[in-house]
Amino acid sequence: MNQHEPNASDHSQNAKAAPKCPFARNAGTPVASLADTLKESTKEAHARAERHEVQAKMVTGKITRQEYGAWLGQMLPLWSAVDAQLSALAVRDARVCSMVKPYHAHADRVAADLKFLGQRASDHPELGATTQFVKFINSAAASGLPGIVGVWYVLEGSANGGRFIAKALSRGLGIAGPDGLTSFDPHGERQREYWQAWRADLDAHSFTSAERDAIIHAASNTFTAIYDIMQDMSAAKSHA
Ligand code: HEM
Repeated sequence: MNQHEPNASDHSQNAKAAPKCPFARNAGTPVASLADTLKESTKEAHARAERHEVQAKMVTGKITRQEYGAWLGQMLPLWSAVDAQLSALAVRDARVCSMVKPYHAHADRVAADLKFLGQRASDHPELGATTQFVKFINSAAASGLPGIVGVWYVLEGSANGGRFIAKALSRGLGIAGPDGLTSFDPHGERQREYWQAWRADLDAHSFTSAERDAIIHAASNTFTAIYDIMQDMSAAKSHA
């Protein structure tokens, strides 16, 4: 390729060098960090999820073991689908392959926490919103676009606040940890380092605008889905 030809898929270096380049007017505007865009575009959805009574009870350590198990029971099918679909995408997409680390696999931690509580997945049948969301994860994966990265952003990112929730659960439920709390606090002292690495790895790659849109849309859908799952959990509890 002619080295002076503007490359629409290069969102970072060419855009920064644009003022000195004779073809500058064709270089387009710099593309914002996708990690920052995800954070900004889901700020309100995060605040809404955080305020839900299910989260509020967890972060104040006021939930019972049964309620904690009910949360894990809904998270298990989600994470099983995400782990599987990310592994499959990593085979096809070198960008995702370079992002996925062994410590990202999460469904086994959820299952182990459930076992620690002496509960089984079958004690917590999938709620309607959970089933819907698993369908969304699988259809996003089948679309050919990397939308699943947006789902992963929300679920992996939730470990940032999860550390605080794990402490509250520890106090409220008398679980010393780390066993029993690994799904909320998967990385311990390395949380910040791993999250910064995740963000940097995401921004090290170029995504087309259709791919960025799919990722941002999936992240927003994920927050909505988590909220809907919490609504279903509250409804199931009040019917019981
Ligand atoms: C009581 C509940 C929650 C609390 C107290 C909480 C708290 C936090 C805190 C303190 C951070 C770190 C912010 C920063 O360093 O800039 C964070 C990040 C994050 N949380 Fe939550 N959170 C809660 C619930 C959730 C839920 C339910 C989800 C979604 C499943 C979620 C998804 C995220 C994501 C994706 C990030 C990363 C933001 C970014 O850096 O882009 N959080 N949360």
